[in-house]
Amino acid sequence: MASFLFFITSTIFTILVQSVLPVQAQTYPIHVKTCRSYCGNLTVDYPFGTRPGCGHPGFRELLFCINDFLMLHISSGSYRVLDIDYSYRALTLHDPHMSNCESIVLGYRGNGFVVDPWRSPYLNPVQDNVFMLIGCSSGSPLFQGFPGKHLPCRNVSSMGCEDYYGCPAWKVIGPKRVGSVYGAGPPECCAVPFEAIKAINLTKLECQGYSSAYSLAPVQVDAPGRWAYGIRVEYSLSDNEAFCKTCEATGGSCGYDIEGVHEVCMCGSWNSTSNCDSVHSSSNGPTSHLVDIIEGFLTSVIVWMTLC
Ligand SMILES: *[C@@H]1O[C@H](CO)[C@@H](O)[C@H](O)[C@H]1NC(C)=O
Ligand SMILES: *[C@@H]1O[C@H](CO)[C@@H](O)[C@H](O)[C@H]1NC(C)=O
Ligand SMILES: *[C@@H]1O[C@H](CO)[C@@H](O)[C@H](O)[C@H]1NC(C)=O
Ligand SMILES: *[C@@H]1O[C@H](CO)[C@@H](O)[C@H](O)[C@H]1NC(C)=O
Repeated sequence: MASFLFFITSTIFTILVQSVLPVQAQTYPIHVKTCRSYCGNLTVDYPFGTRPGCGHPGFRELLFCINDFLMLHISSGSYRVLDIDYSYRALTLHDPHMSNCESIVLGYRGNGFVVDPWRSPYLNPVQDNVFMLIGCSSGSPLFQGFPGKHLPCRNVSSMGCEDYYGCPAWKVIGPKRVGSVYGAGPPECCAVPFEAIKAINLTKLECQGYSSAYSLAPVQVDAPGRWAYGIRVEYSLSDNEAFCKTCEATGGSCGYDIEGVHEVCMCGSWNSTSNCDSVHSSSNGPTSHLVDIIEGFLTSVIVWMTLC
């Protein structure tokens, strides 16, 4: 008698569980990662997006995939994105008009690096990135306020102009004046970290060109020919990230509203201001289904145990 009851109970339980599982699977349909995209061999994922409405609002209208090249567009210009490092939260950018060890590009052709004030909490060159400003006029704001004193120029992560002058590119430019004290005329190259001036605007700084290099700590390379040339930028989500985590956990894709201000959770056919479970949590939702079944099963077990 007891084993028969047990058989009945477990059969009913199995049937109920099997009938509820597909329902659960359908609750979070395959609209997961509708915002993930690929450009060349780069994966574009949260907080970035190449489709309007995808990603975090702080990175809206930032990345564009053009002929399999991922381009980053900010107020100072367009850069090619060479890498997105999601674990270190960094991007590596390339500006074709940036000087490097092989060539020096003058004539104000380089972009420098300037972001709109609204975007600056989200995107900034890393502190190990050195900007080397080349051919700046003596009237440059860089040298103002320092007459007869030491220049703001300094080494950043062991990278600086003294070493950079050793590059083949400088042999083409010709003899240089190397001075760290203003008075003998400005140096032809002045290295600064980004936070010292907050905007690398070549026009405003009256510098004809620039170079940028970064070191991936703890690796420090002393030969300028082996520095990594490019702009290493870190991204941050200054507000909390709980919204997107919860959204993705419920099968949604993280995006933002048409005004580009508020985050939205895209749940396939509808958008939520919280997550994809928010309106389905009524009494006939799958969670309460499961609760009903477990309750029913426990009741059966108790009845069966009582009968024994
Ligand atoms: C992507 O391709 C480029 C060459 O086109 C290569 O240098 C780079 O390492 C590749 N990046 C990844 C993440 O595979
Ligand atoms: C959801 O939001 C995205 C991004 O703003 C938008 O493109 C899409 O049209 C919205 N979908 C619905 C159903 O409102
Ligand atoms: C750079 O500075 C110039 C002169 O001050 C200004 O006209 C220009 O808008 C600035 N560029 C950026 C990208 O901020
Ligand atoms: C930068 O480092 C070099 C050695 O790599 C040194 O000769 C130079 O004086 C340093 N410059 C400054 C401004 O500290």
